[in-house]
Amino acid sequence: DDDSALTSRAPVVTIMGHVDHGKTSLLDAIRHANVVSGEAGGITQHIGAYQVEQNGQKITFIDTPGHAAFTAMRARGAQATDIAILVVAADDSVMPQTIESINHAKAAGVPIIVAINKIDKPSADVQKVRTQLLQHEVFVETMGGDVLEVEVSAKNGTNLDKLLEAILLQAEVLDLKANVDRTAEGTVIEAQLDRGRGSVATVLVQNGTLRPGQIVVAGDQWGRVRALVNDQGDHVKEALPSMPVEILGLSGAPHAGDKFAVVENEARAREISEYRQRLARDKAAARQSGSRGSLEQMMSQ
Ligand code: GTP
Ligand code: NA
Ligand code: MG
Repeated sequence: DDDSALTSRAPVVTIMGHVDHGKTSLLDAIRHANVVSGEAGGITQHIGAYQVEQNGQKITFIDTPGHAAFTAMRARGAQATDIAILVVAADDSVMPQTIESINHAKAAGVPIIVAINKIDKPSADVQKVRTQLLQHEVFVETMGGDVLEVEVSAKNGTNLDKLLEAILLQAEVLDLKANVDRTAEGTVIEAQLDRGRGSVATVLVQNGTLRPGQIVVAGDQWGRVRALVNDQGDHVKEALPSMPVEILGLSGAPHAGDKFAVVENEARAREISEYRQRLARDKAAARQSGSRGSLEQMMSQ
């Protein structure tokens, strides 16, 4: 790629943490706070990822339905996230899935920002959270480390701006770039077959520019992009890097974590998807005969 074509792109953020520590509440609070009044449509249309603006700079949030999707995406080698927000409830402190989240982020090499949530609660103990995080080698600023930390209340909307500022600060350090002048590629966030609209794949464009009419291969599925729909539910003529968008027009539903890319023509798209489908069938067959084999072994013992 020609370096001169590189431009800054928005950070892509995933929210992680223990069950009930407030991941969904925080995502909702951020989205609500960012929706200009009279634009209510923007919060009802929900595509599993959305962008907000803070001081004119965009941030992309991936709204994964819990750990399952993130794990699935990681298992497929997807590196869709730039920054992980680790939500820790101040009244509950570090719990098993907090530790799991820390390990996921570290394994993926993704920097963590700690959001200590539920500070509105009388039982909140922020210092305990910091100390326990220290034991899991997450060194927050207030403990002399360099991990950014923000005390928030998703319930009251406290310090959401500070959290967005922290994300932009971390993004600046990461110096995230992409090339808008090349054909698009990225990762599938979620996909389903919709009764009315057919295959609906929510993807994150990670490089290049995606446009309607282009031919896309996503996992073992392919199709000509019939329409692109943004997080506001609006049809758009292009999707730029770090932008989440729905692709309509694929032949079927790819999997969360699958890569997608624009290819030059239908023949090439069909060739790649057929090859991948054959590969998947062969793998499944190998697994089946493998388990039959071990069953026979067990029976003969
Ligand atoms: P799972 O997706 O099930 O893992 O939970 P979650 O992490 O998405 O938590 P969720 O947002 O569903 O919040 C769990 C509970 O905590 C709900 O009853 C929320 O109302 C409550 N809650 C979330 N944030 C806050 C907060 O800042 N303060 C208080 N007091 N309660 C909160
Ligand atoms: Na919950
Ligand atoms: Mg949730």
